[in-house]
Amino acid sequence: MTTYVTADDTAASRTGAIKLHGPEAFAGMRAAGRLAAETLDALVPHVVPGVETAELDRMIYDITIAAGAVPATLNYRGYTHSCCISVNHVVCHGIPGSKTLKDGDIVNIDVTPLLDGWHGDSSRMFLVGDVPIKARRLVDVTYECLMLGIEQAKPGKRLGDIGHAIQSHAERHRYGVVRDFCGHGVGRLFHDAPEVVHAGRPGSGPELRPGMLFTIEPMINIGRPDVKMLDDGWTAVTRDRSLSAQFEHSIGITEAGCEIFTLSPKGLHKPPYL
Ligand code: MF3
Ligand code: CO
Ligand code: CO
Repeated sequence: MTTYVTADDTAASRTGAIKLHGPEAFAGMRAAGRLAAETLDALVPHVVPGVETAELDRMIYDITIAAGAVPATLNYRGYTHSCCISVNHVVCHGIPGSKTLKDGDIVNIDVTPLLDGWHGDSSRMFLVGDVPIKARRLVDVTYECLMLGIEQAKPGKRLGDIGHAIQSHAERHRYGVVRDFCGHGVGRLFHDAPEVVHAGRPGSGPELRPGMLFTIEPMINIGRPDVKMLDDGWTAVTRDRSLSAQFEHSIGITEAGCEIFTLSPKGLHKPPYL
């Protein structure tokens, strides 16, 4: 059974219940989400062949701190970076470092500024130089998967409707939907209930109610859905080494539908970012 509680917006409690948040939470998420989106916007000119992923991580740290926020990933469960950068067959949680981006890479950058107690969690794909059509198609379809999932995010629907919309679209293109990682409740906690699965049956799972705050962040592979963890304990890669893509928004359920907190103010929703 799913339980719902009226969120006390002053406390970050981990109860397993789904929190229903009020207007102050929405205002907090709007500000944190906007900062996440502005940060991703600012990276666009820098995601080019030859750049070190550690350099992008430093830029994200600087932008976040200058805005009066902190990167929520910094010192999160032993993670010591300001973002995740996942290149090509890396599914998620790629660690920034001395690796340089090269022509033809597809890259996910995932940022989560913690601003005034609220987490704005968002990621986008970036194309490095000239990217082959096969990879660009994966990126396009993954973006469509996220937005089709968001279309289902309204009162009366269930989490399974979101998963189903994403899964159907991905599988229509013969892509694999990663099952090992989910979207999640978000707010004062970085990762809260519920788990937002990216594959599912229509009409299944917890029902969506106004005040719910969560992410949708489908990871879609050209090949099989299976992932493998690298020895660093963070980096997840596709088992078959096929390319993987991901987009993530933080949203809030409203009476009318949902509010997307992490929309790009510059309209840089998906590549190419001309
Ligand atoms: N931002 C990721 C998410 O979408 C979580 C990254 S946690 C980290 O949930 F420790 F790997 F950075
Ligand atoms: Co997330
Ligand atoms: Co994220």
